[in-house]
Amino acid sequence: MGVKIAPSLLSCAFAELGREVRAVDEAGAEWIHVDVMDGRFVPNITVGPLIVEAVRASTERVVDVHLMIDRPERYLEDFASAGADVITVHAEATAHLHRALARIRALGKRAGLALNPATPVAAAGEVLDQIDLLLVMSVDPGFGGQDLIARSPEKVAHARAMVERRRPGGVEVEVDGGVGVQNAASLARAGATVLVAGSSLFGHPEGAAAGVRAIRAAASGPDPE
Ligand code: DX5
Ligand code: ZN
Repeated sequence: MGVKIAPSLLSCAFAELGREVRAVDEAGAEWIHVDVMDGRFVPNITVGPLIVEAVRASTERVVDVHLMIDRPERYLEDFASAGADVITVHAEATAHLHRALARIRALGKRAGLALNPATPVAAAGEVLDQIDLLLVMSVDPGFGGQDLIARSPEKVAHARAMVERRRPGGVEVEVDGGVGVQNAASLARAGATVLVAGSSLFGHPEGAAAGVRAIRAAASGPDPE
C-alpha cells in the first residue's frame, strides 16, 4: 500500500476552487486537505465551514480538515455538517482534548490529533485510543511555503513506532509542512501514510495534477537526500 497524497488547498487558486479540487482529484490525490486558521491559535486567518462545504460539493475524495483554531470544540458540529470526513484538532489548542476527540467520533467522523513541532509524540499517548490519525507538523503552523524542519522524519518514525505498538494498523500518520519531492521518500520510509503538500504541489510548473504525480513518484522512489 502506497502513501496517500493530500493536496493542501491553502496554495491553490481560490478563485478557481472547484476546478483546482477536481484537478487534484482526477490526478489521483486520495485526500483533500483544508487548512482552517483563526488568527489566534496561529497568526493567519483562512477559511471556515462554507469553504469546506464547497470542497465537499466538488469531490468524493476524503475531505481532511485541519483545524488550527483555539478551542476547536466550539466548531466541531459546523465542520462535521459541512461535510468533513476527517477532523483534526491540535493538542496545544484545547485543555479538553479527550472530550473534543470523543465528540468528533460521536459526530461520525474520523478524529485526528495534530502536534506542533515542539510538542513531543508522547503528548498523544493518553488519547491514542481515541484517534484515527496522528498529524506530525513539520513546520510551525500558520503559513504555506515554509521549509520542513530537519528533525521531522525522525519524529514521524517515533510517531509510527508508538502507533504500531499500541494501535497496529489503526492510525494514519500524516505529515504536514514543507513536503516536496526532496523529502517525500524519507517521510514515507519513516512511516508517514498521508503526505500533505501545498506550495510544492500547486506550484508545480506543469500544474497541480503534475504536482500530485511528482510527489507520488518521489514518495515511492529512492531517497534523494
Ligand atoms: C501549515 C498548514 C499546511 C501548509 C502546507 O500551517 O497546515 O497544510 O499549508 O503547505 P506547504 O506544503 O506549502 O508547506
Ligand atoms: Zn495543514
